[in-house]
Amino acid sequence: MTKGKMTNRGRYGDVWDQYVTESFPAIQGGEPYSGQSLKPWRVLNQSDDYYAWPGDEWGDKASSKRLLDEALTLNAVNLICEFGAGGGRYTQLLLEKYESVEIISYDVSQKFEQVLRQRFSEEVDAGKLDTEILLEDPYQVVRSIKRRGKLGQVDAFVSFDAMVHVELHTLFMYWFAATKCLRIGGQLAMNVANAGSELGFMKLAANAPGVYRGQGGVGGHFMWISPDIVHYLLTNLGFTVNLLEGNGRDLSFSATLENPERGRVLFEAAGADYFNRNF
Ligand SMILES: C[S@@+](CC[C@H](N)C(=O)[O-])C[C@H]1O[C@@H](n2cnc3c(N)ncnc32)[C@H](O)[C@@H]1O
Repeated sequence: MTKGKMTNRGRYGDVWDQYVTESFPAIQGGEPYSGQSLKPWRVLNQSDDYYAWPGDEWGDKASSKRLLDEALTLNAVNLICEFGAGGGRYTQLLLEKYESVEIISYDVSQKFEQVLRQRFSEEVDAGKLDTEILLEDPYQVVRSIKRRGKLGQVDAFVSFDAMVHVELHTLFMYWFAATKCLRIGGQLAMNVANAGSELGFMKLAANAPGVYRGQGGVGGHFMWISPDIVHYLLTNLGFTVNLLEGNGRDLSFSATLENPERGRVLFEAAGADYFNRNF
């Protein structure tokens, strides 16, 4: 080990495995949010009284469908990469929206992956759903799609209520992967944390002391960004960006890939040679 190199970091996967094994059973067995009075920044499922799958507690079907339909507007879709599918709340909607779609799920949590494969065992058996656990390789997604012979052919990268928890370097690698994997005209349909919204401000203010105590470690808290950052980065990666209404707290957007070469100059100037790498 290099002397002084920081290796003792929390891992996304451990946080979310623990959510599945400990937090969700407690929530499932407790009082549903429908019977609770919540602060306005707590965007949760207040319609249903029982949560069958982990994730049901975060939003009812109608509101999840609204978020997805607003951002993912393609008509004909064959192949989707979903990031942070969790228990499959949006996977279910994707399978309903596009009858013959194939979905590849990329998640960090093995426990969530088990739930997803159990819930959609028929689709897994039929080859409609495949799952991969994301490990340390920053180019894993590009390599995965290359191995499948689908570079430049994926219709959409989709992620809802997941990337709000993911910091920008990781997010950037998913967006970079999108420039290599999506077809021209393919969509990035996503929501991220928005410190520039009133409800975002409230959540940040309410959560800050507890997150402070974690001394920078990964956790279930939000990783805050803002519309100008999303717009600037995705435009420079070759997307046309459409910022959407979303759920009023987080930043929903739909970004269409127009020019996958757009990032080349800045990457090269930065010495970020992976733009040209033969994955
Ligand atoms: C709050 S849950 C949302 C799950 C699902 N999208 C839903 O709305 O029900 C967050 C999900 O993102 C996954 N996740 C966390 N960090 C991630 C990362 N860096 N890359 C991909 N997925 C991640 C978690 O394992 C979990 O499945």
